[in-house]
Amino acid sequence: MVKSKYINSLMARAKKNVKTIVLPEGEDLRVLEAAHIVSEEGVAKLIVLGNVAEMQAHFAAKGWRTDGIEFINPEESPRLREYADLLYELRKEKGLSRDDADKLALNHNYFGTLMIKSGHADGMVSGANHSTADTVRPALQIIKAAKKGASASSFFIMISHDEPYIFSDCGVIINPTDKELADIALNAAQTAILLGIEPNVAMLSFSTKGSAKGDEVDKVTRATKMAQEALLTDEYKNLGIKIDGELQADAALDSVVAAKKAPGSEVAGKARVLIFPNLEAGNICYKLLQRLGDCEAYGPILQGLNAPVNDLSRGCFAEDVVGAIVITCIQATK
Ligand SMILES: CC(C)(COP(=O)(O)OP(=O)(O)OC[C@H]1O[C@@H](n2cnc3c(N)ncnc32)[C@H](O)[C@@H]1OP(=O)(O)O)[C@@H](O)C(=O)NCCC(=O)NCCS
Repeated sequence: MVKSKYINSLMARAKKNVKTIVLPEGEDLRVLEAAHIVSEEGVAKLIVLGNVAEMQAHFAAKGWRTDGIEFINPEESPRLREYADLLYELRKEKGLSRDDADKLALNHNYFGTLMIKSGHADGMVSGANHSTADTVRPALQIIKAAKKGASASSFFIMISHDEPYIFSDCGVIINPTDKELADIALNAAQTAILLGIEPNVAMLSFSTKGSAKGDEVDKVTRATKMAQEALLTDEYKNLGIKIDGELQADAALDSVVAAKKAPGSEVAGKARVLIFPNLEAGNICYKLLQRLGDCEAYGPILQGLNAPVNDLSRGCFAEDVVGAIVITCIQATK
């Protein structure tokens, strides 16, 4: 079972509207264990890709039921031709040859992503054995960002003392421009709303309200202004989102520090969504909190895509895979 109360509460939500999630890494025993837990809980229908006989033998050896789970070997799938044709059509203008489309459709991450594109699955969770780039690239190429001209990014749910926080972007955009940083903040705020977390967004920096100077600080203040301007538009104005910056992490989270460093801020001291100035800061920070700070970390979860495709850390446990599947189900209900 999953230990986090918060993830359990999301699990209860997911059960009310069961989605189909594809897991491309059926060769991984952590993924098979997660598939067993999720199907026993009735959280999602699952499609697991891999060697069907081997996966079924593992379930039989463990005494696990396979109800609610479909095992597919892409090489033997009657839909392989259909998916390869779809991939070719979608990518031929980008220079993909028919031969390469045929080969790529056999790659489990591409096969799973093409299942979503074809409406045969609602979401995907992969990455127990693949790098973030290899998991995310097919999604960016095939599923695409939900809004034209906007970027997809990623977030982690970080759980500290049973309280969930959103950290973004710790997984995709390496060095965001001002506009990308503003998009990350707006996407993360919408993610927070979807996941029942207060959309109080802090744009993090090593400076609070002008306490330090530098190009890095200026980038965060410009992105904050862009995101705040977007909050006045019809798309965002009634969502209750608050964004402020630039803030140091202590001013964002601690009300005593906030009163000194950022008096009058609606967000300082109450932030639940933390936006990092770049991937380096975000990725290092989430891993430190996970290893030294006793926080649970779920992600990277993609945001801003047309359908949910989510990554796992290669060091993940079966419980993390369950958490990622649950979050993917909630995103798929949007
Ligand atoms: C995500 C990532 C793989 C994409 O880079 P890439 O594979 O070089 O991708 P490309 O630049 O070739 O772009 C591929 C497609 O995705 C699109 N794309 C890339 N980044 C995107 C984004 N953030 N949002 C939306 N679309 C994006 C491109 O427009 C391109 O589309 P097209 O081929 O239809 O024109 C890259 O940003 C990356 O490696 N990020 C860091 C991942 C990582 O290592 N994280 C740390 C561990 S968690």
